[in-house]
Amino acid sequence: MRHLKKSIVAAAFTLAASLPALAADPIKIGLVLPMTGPFAAYGKQIEHGVKLYLATKGDTFGGRKVELIVKDDAPGTAGDVSKRLAQELVIKDKVDILAGFGLTPSAFAVAPVATEAKKPMVVMNAATSAVTTKSNYLVRTSMTLPQITAPIATWASKNGIKKVFTLVADYGPGHDAEGQFKKTFTAAGGEIVGEVRAPVKNPDFAPFLQKIKDTKPDAVFIFLPPGAETIAFMKGFTERGLTAAGIRLIATGDLPDEDILEAIGDAALGLITSFHYSEAHKSPENKAYTEAYYKAYPKDRPNFMSMGGYDGMHLIAEVLKKTGGNADAEKFVEAAKGMKWTSPRGPISIDPVTRDIVQTIYIRKVERVAGKLQNVEFDQVNEFKDPGKQ
Ligand code: PHB
Repeated sequence: MRHLKKSIVAAAFTLAASLPALAADPIKIGLVLPMTGPFAAYGKQIEHGVKLYLATKGDTFGGRKVELIVKDDAPGTAGDVSKRLAQELVIKDKVDILAGFGLTPSAFAVAPVATEAKKPMVVMNAATSAVTTKSNYLVRTSMTLPQITAPIATWASKNGIKKVFTLVADYGPGHDAEGQFKKTFTAAGGEIVGEVRAPVKNPDFAPFLQKIKDTKPDAVFIFLPPGAETIAFMKGFTERGLTAAGIRLIATGDLPDEDILEAIGDAALGLITSFHYSEAHKSPENKAYTEAYYKAYPKDRPNFMSMGGYDGMHLIAEVLKKTGGNADAEKFVEAAKGMKWTSPRGPISIDPVTRDIVQTIYIRKVERVAGKLQNVEFDQVNEFKDPGKQ
């Protein structure tokens, strides 16, 4: 008898699992994010952005209430870990949408899972250009490295910088940044006088800084994923006398990221970068966003990663409204293509061909504003597509 009861229960479970989700069922979003380890700040910020959207705009779209399931794929650079967690989200948790992805190796590893399971995948940070080519169900709301690099290369060539040394992290985004900087800068007549790739984990910058000092370039161009190492790098640059030697520093805006800007301190003052989001961006949308952010998370600062999460959630919400709560991968992607909105970062859209983000890239300078270090925007390139795909 007991055995029979058990098998009936088991059969009911199997049946429930195989039934298609009803429109009134919650929409399950599986967030794959580094929540602990060296890149824990990425997970924290992206989750902040997603949750802030739900707290300020409501949590039900197209008739379906959003349910978040967060999986910690620390360290965020081990693709096999991210892949196993994404498979668990699909098989055990039966999520409708895969989202998050702090670092490129995580997005690369999960893209085939999205394709196989036919699940939409919303990339909220990972920024190597090729990420969006890894699954037809993938849409990105962050940025791409070539997109945020080309404008600073153009700016450098127009502002008296003739010889540049490049230093990047030795993985996808770093290779993209190095390649795009070289391409744009040399096409404008500039010269690359040296290049190094630093390990992503535990880099020792001392020999690189010495080499740069000896080479005497006009400027160093840098891409490093923000964290403890970038803070150490910025301090080392000043302490080892590179600033005093007149060597300028230019970078993508992840270097003076708001999350670590105060930790870098005055060593960041005057740093010129190009990027898609600054806390100091002047617009009514950003004012409302940053005020809501500080109310919800008084101990943190809004940065580009929380922005990627916020806009990623906006995209999911708008798609669900359009499809009446249907998150079928084909329908999701069709609804997302060409979508346009005014984000707190400025006007953005989803390129219907590449499923990647099109946005304004700003040139900014680190200044102290009302006692706080900020990336103050002073120039911009509008509706800029990823040059990495052209
Ligand atoms: C990435 O791994 O794709 C990545 C991480 C941090 C960034 C940009 C790109 O700031």
